[in-house]
Amino acid sequence: MERAKILVVDDELGPREALRMILKDEFDLCFATNGKEAVEQVRSQGPDLVVMDMKMPIMDGMEALRLMKEHNPALPVIMVTGYGTIEKAVEAMKIGAFDYITKPFDAFDLLDKVKKALEEGAGDPQSQRMLKQIQETSNKLAEQQQYLQKQIVQLSKLSTIGMLAQGIAHNLSSPLLIILGRAELMKDKLLELRSKILSLSGKQSPSASSEILSLLQEYDQSVKDTDVIIENVAKVSDIIKNVLQKGRQEHMDYHQPLNLSAVLREELQFLEADLFFKHNVERIYDLQEDLPPVQGVYTDFSQTFLNLIQNAIDAMRESEKKVLAVSCRQNGDFIEVKIRDTGCGIPSENMDKIFDPYFTTKKGTPEGDGPIGTGLGLHMVKMLMEPYRAVIEVESKPGDTCFTLRIPWKNSSQ
Ligand SMILES: Nc1ncnc2c1ncn2[C@@H]1O[C@H](COP(=O)(O)OP(=O)(O)OP(=O)(O)O)[C@@H](O)[C@H]1O
Ligand SMILES: [Mg+2]
Repeated sequence: MERAKILVVDDELGPREALRMILKDEFDLCFATNGKEAVEQVRSQGPDLVVMDMKMPIMDGMEALRLMKEHNPALPVIMVTGYGTIEKAVEAMKIGAFDYITKPFDAFDLLDKVKKALEEGAGDPQSQRMLKQIQETSNKLAEQQQYLQKQIVQLSKLSTIGMLAQGIAHNLSSPLLIILGRAELMKDKLLELRSKILSLSGKQSPSASSEILSLLQEYDQSVKDTDVIIENVAKVSDIIKNVLQKGRQEHMDYHQPLNLSAVLREELQFLEADLFFKHNVERIYDLQEDLPPVQGVYTDFSQTFLNLIQNAIDAMRESEKKVLAVSCRQNGDFIEVKIRDTGCGIPSENMDKIFDPYFTTKKGTPEGDGPIGTGLGLHMVKMLMEPYRAVIEVESKPGDTCFTLRIPWKNSSQ
């Protein structure tokens, strides 16, 4: 019969050796010195049983047990506890440990428990097969969930321009109205000047020359009006350029060197299409120009920034003081982005939920006022930033909330 394989986990050499001596004659052994290593070995080596110390550095036995059981609920685990820590052992049994032994261990007692665990743990083959099937199905489900979440991220990336289409149209229409008004005024004025000039032609009296002087003043005024027109045409052209660029960039799903200040600037300019933001929020920007580039996908960052800034804007809708401060600076090996608002703040009881998918406090009102959220914004930020090993920090009290992103720029994700 094939020998069973046992994974022995203990950070101290002494107990590890003791366990080796007791078990080596009857079983194949492998070893790990902390919980993290042990979980990795369970995944890669698939042992038939685990004997694991409770107290270890890096990851303790309890956490490792939890992860092992998540990976394979049928795996028998025997916990090793120090003297007088029975409560811990009981807690471990509740999580799914098969049994426990106390240090210093009795060789017979240990062998007994190991054999019993291998017999009972193996269970009948049918239940083993069922467990395996359940395991496979749940792995597939987890994969599908991840795939769906990625699809949601993709969809919401594509909809940014659509979401702000009304604001973009509004921002285009106000300079266009100014252009139209000035152009009509100028046309009337030019026609008027033409007929006045015609009526003066041929006259050479002193009154005629003073009239010509005043006509020239009117003419100069019309020239000034062309400046207003040119200025507003430039505004329209800027908005169109920004939207076109955004449209193009939303399709760039490959890695390229990015200047994060430039991405932020484009996103903030784009958000001018949010009319509440444009007209009611004071803005303080500190965007360092000469940043080292981060290798990344444009939309991973533009979407992250948009979500964080949108949250900051939403939080300030009801507050008296409305200031958005955005900064982007190099700090050693990191690019540090800070998005800070003077809004309502995040209550401490919500702090550990805000990154959960579908957690939102934005339910709108029956009258249709106030923002409505899906609760996916921050979850998406976490997912998008994960490949870049970016760290996200949140500090919040009423009237002052700050999200900090620390993105390593050296060896950034390829
Ligand atoms: N700057 C902030 N100030 C106050 N609360 C915030 C801030 N950012 C996030 N929150 C809180 O975190 C919750 C989750 O944010 P998240 O962006 O994930 O979802 P949402 O904004 O509600 O909806 P969505 O982004 O999908 O439209 C928000 O509903 C809000 O309660
Ligand atoms: Mg949000």
